[in-house]
Amino acid sequence: MSTLSIAVEDLTLEDAATELERLAKELAHHDALYHGKDAPEISDADYDALKRRNEEIEARFPELVRADSPSRKVGAAPAGIFQQITHARPMLSLDNVFSDEDVSDFISSVYRFLGLLPDNSIAFTAEPKIDGLSMSLRYENGRLVSAATRGDGTTGENVTANIRTIKEIPQTLPADAPAIVEVRGEVYMGKSDFLALNEQMLAEGKQTYVNPRNTAAGSLRQLDPAITASRKLKFFAYAWGEISDMPADTQSGMVEVFKRWGFPVNPLTQRLSSIEAILEHYNGIGLKRPDLDYDIDGVVYKVDRLDLQQRLGFRSRSPRWATAHKFPAEQAFTTVEKIEIQVGRTGALTPVARLTPVTVGGVVVTNATLHNADYIEGIGNGGERIREEEHDIRVGDTVIVQRAGDVIPQVLDVVMEKRPEGSERYAFPKICPVCGSHAVRERNEKTGKLDSVTRCTGGFVCRAQAVEHLKHFVSRNAFDIEGLGAKQIDFFFEAEDPALSIKTAPDIFTLEKRQSASALTKLENIDGFGKVSVRKLYDAINDRRQVALHRLIYALGIRHVGETTAKLLARSYGSYTAFADAMKAASDITSEAWSDLNTIDGIGDVVARAIVEFFKEPRNMDVVSRLLDEVTPQDAEAPVASSSPVAGKTVVFTGSLEKMTRDEAKAMAERLGAKVAGSVSKKTDLLVAGPGAGSKLEKARELGVETTDEDGWFTLIGG
Ligand code: IVH
Repeated sequence: MSTLSIAVEDLTLEDAATELERLAKELAHHDALYHGKDAPEISDADYDALKRRNEEIEARFPELVRADSPSRKVGAAPAGIFQQITHARPMLSLDNVFSDEDVSDFISSVYRFLGLLPDNSIAFTAEPKIDGLSMSLRYENGRLVSAATRGDGTTGENVTANIRTIKEIPQTLPADAPAIVEVRGEVYMGKSDFLALNEQMLAEGKQTYVNPRNTAAGSLRQLDPAITASRKLKFFAYAWGEISDMPADTQSGMVEVFKRWGFPVNPLTQRLSSIEAILEHYNGIGLKRPDLDYDIDGVVYKVDRLDLQQRLGFRSRSPRWATAHKFPAEQAFTTVEKIEIQVGRTGALTPVARLTPVTVGGVVVTNATLHNADYIEGIGNGGERIREEEHDIRVGDTVIVQRAGDVIPQVLDVVMEKRPEGSERYAFPKICPVCGSHAVRERNEKTGKLDSVTRCTGGFVCRAQAVEHLKHFVSRNAFDIEGLGAKQIDFFFEAEDPALSIKTAPDIFTLEKRQSASALTKLENIDGFGKVSVRKLYDAINDRRQVALHRLIYALGIRHVGETTAKLLARSYGSYTAFADAMKAASDITSEAWSDLNTIDGIGDVVARAIVEFFKEPRNMDVVSRLLDEVTPQDAEAPVASSSPVAGKTVVFTGSLEKMTRDEAKAMAERLGAKVAGSVSKKTDLLVAGPGAGSKLEKARELGVETTDEDGWFTLIGG
């Protein structure tokens, strides 16, 4: 399979090396055709996609950057040579939405979170989403002291010297600016400047650049600021990081201030309140898009009032008060060559369409997920029709595929006129193609409806489930073992030699011992390994013998326990022993442990049951106990805001709250390091009761739990 369709973050080191080699060859080939023979084989967009892919892989695996890398040809700095800067406030990203309906959902969610009825009273700013590079500019006492790229959001690269060459960015701020100011925005290259640069390159017989965004990025990563200076980069200010004294109380007000300070701000920004006005502006910007001198890929909406932004706060990576409305995804026609079934960690059978390769939005697409049997039939998750009757997906069909943002390609519809004669409906397998066990669709206990997922019932017997389990165990948010990716797991899992084989997670940690005890099979002699990489692998494994509790819990691969739930559990129980003991005790549903588990806000009945079931299975307990012979889970860290008066406390909200919604109260308490529970128990530290509080208040009084009202809560937290 082509690795192009694998997300960069899922590539193993080896995949990445192979792909970089291929990309270097492929791009050199296209360069030669383009410049030498003036006969390009691929479109600019496809070329761009290859180049961007190369850059993305290099950014993730700086150690693999090749001497003949296409990125080096533009004279850019190799990754890792700029100093790192830790952002005073993280640089977050935005959620994406694609349809008018999504926008309406976003607006409703803002109203709902704030406990307001949708009445057009909340104003939003709407501005183009610039396709450039985000930058944080730090001014101290009115002087530009540093400039950093976004990087991973926490730390970026120090590109101050190069940023100083951008004329549009002020070096100093007016005297009335606060002592510390971080202005954030987008560095970009104008389309006309980009075209002029390419003309000049062509005239000089040099290689031309790919697109404005990549050129802007390459221009900033120059070791010699004189080169950056020659590139005419530009800037739009739209956000901020640390500021010692806020000069305005709205988003639009802040942008006005930036303008007064001398920063360019986008002229298409508007302040709007109704969904109709917002969508009209979106469509208007879409129409202007081809005529703008910079690339944009959507429109960003932000709640204008900063006090409301503050109340709405953030999810893990993006603010609740903003979203990016992307322009429509690109689509293409292709044919379904095969439908294959993949078996996942939880036994889910996922049909995948193998497609005749086609470029969609500049990326070659060869596979698309078909989700489940219903999707193939044209039925959505809620039982609704998503395609017309008869438009079931069949092998041989010509289909419309779509790629939206980073989302996996989707098959949208079937072109019925092109359906080959005599084609047959796809028969979804009734047995697992890997282990031959029955594959069934479970019935949802509550709704009585058939689950959309067909699941292999083989459990431990199914090799696919076992191997996927291992892949999950070593994945990024779990044990994150470098050098042990999907490909290596496949290899070790297939190996039957006792000195090599890895069938369950603990085997990973005994590999080195088994290897040194074996005289015959040496990993370093096996193709694709070698002495250095074997040592590196052992080091990476040994590095993980101490592991954060939430990573361990997540790595266990308990059904319904994702990263967020794992963190919640780690925070609630503190240590592995406390967690495991409680889960074992919780199998008695009359126990306190069971009610405690269900009391954790964010843990519902389905999740609670799945966890308890996991701990009831002796085979799971055997694996975990062997694992704990090898690794030591670290107790969960104390809450971040440990100085707050409610840090580490368990708080319950009840009754009707008037100054904040329940969601808001919960988010606020969690931000301050408290645990929020859904019901009162002996472990509750504080009950915040609004008017109409009933049984919970009574229970708190019975148990002698401290209670307060909404005002008392605000006094307590000092708000
Ligand atoms: S606001 C906390 N506004 O989009 C929100 N971002 O997907 C901060 N971007 O990394 C971002 N134009 O590089 C914002 N008008 C705009 C933007 C914009 C482009 C980029 C930015 C950010 C990414 C998020």
